[in-house]
Amino acid sequence: MRTPHYDAYLAGEAPVDFVEVISENYMVEGGRPLYSLDRVREHYPIAMHGVSMSVGSADGLDRSYLQRLKGLAVRVQPLWVSDHLCWTGIDGFNSHDLLPLPYTEEALDTAAANIAQAQDFLERPMLIENPSSYLTFADDMMSEWDFLSALCERTGCYLLLDINNIYVSGTNHGFDPLEYLAAIPADRVRQIHLAGHSHGRDGLLIDTHDQPVPDPVWALYAKVIERFSNVAVMIERDDDIPPLEDLIAEMEMARQFSQASAKVAA
Ligand SMILES: [Fe+2]
Repeated sequence: MRTPHYDAYLAGEAPVDFVEVISENYMVEGGRPLYSLDRVREHYPIAMHGVSMSVGSADGLDRSYLQRLKGLAVRVQPLWVSDHLCWTGIDGFNSHDLLPLPYTEEALDTAAANIAQAQDFLERPMLIENPSSYLTFADDMMSEWDFLSALCERTGCYLLLDINNIYVSGTNHGFDPLEYLAAIPADRVRQIHLAGHSHGRDGLLIDTHDQPVPDPVWALYAKVIERFSNVAVMIERDDDIPPLEDLIAEMEMARQFSQASAKVAA
């Protein structure tokens, strides 16, 4: 849910099955954003998507953040609460960036403990989203897909798969997105993000979310839904927000891919 489209959601006129909101935008005492969210909730189920839990942080989780997040969850009774596999700051400093983790046993222990703590506190399982990244670590001991699978196993969390992020990271680091997808436990995937990216310097792809979903991401999505059929799908746009009709047209395209896949399966 982006500000330019508020009116359509407030009126319940947007032809979507659910609405995703950035949790932090509504973790406040009152005011217009929260008032609007309550009205939108009368028309649509809400998915809460966070950007600063910092589940990879060795500092542990911020208790006051968790309290405010839970307050919002109690208020909107969301479909689910998600955040990213990343860390966002240190010593109380929030970088507002989704920073990559080394995929080591130590980082896995840390992220699993944080996710378990968040789930206990929120009294609900979380969805964890795969990040896009521009570097890997010399200390990496496992692939991102093995890291995510292990998190699901250890904590009972679910996954929000961002297909664009898999494509971006696959291009940047030279892995096969299909190998990634084949290794993900299908029964843990509850939501999918579709988005666009930009081309940076040195051939890097950048996860800007300011473009329509490009053909290679659609091609990957067509493969994805062969495995993950009963999953909530969303078009994610963070910048250069187009008219709502453009996003609805992309959503319709996603529906057509899903229907074509269902027919083939039948
Ligand atoms: Fe995403």
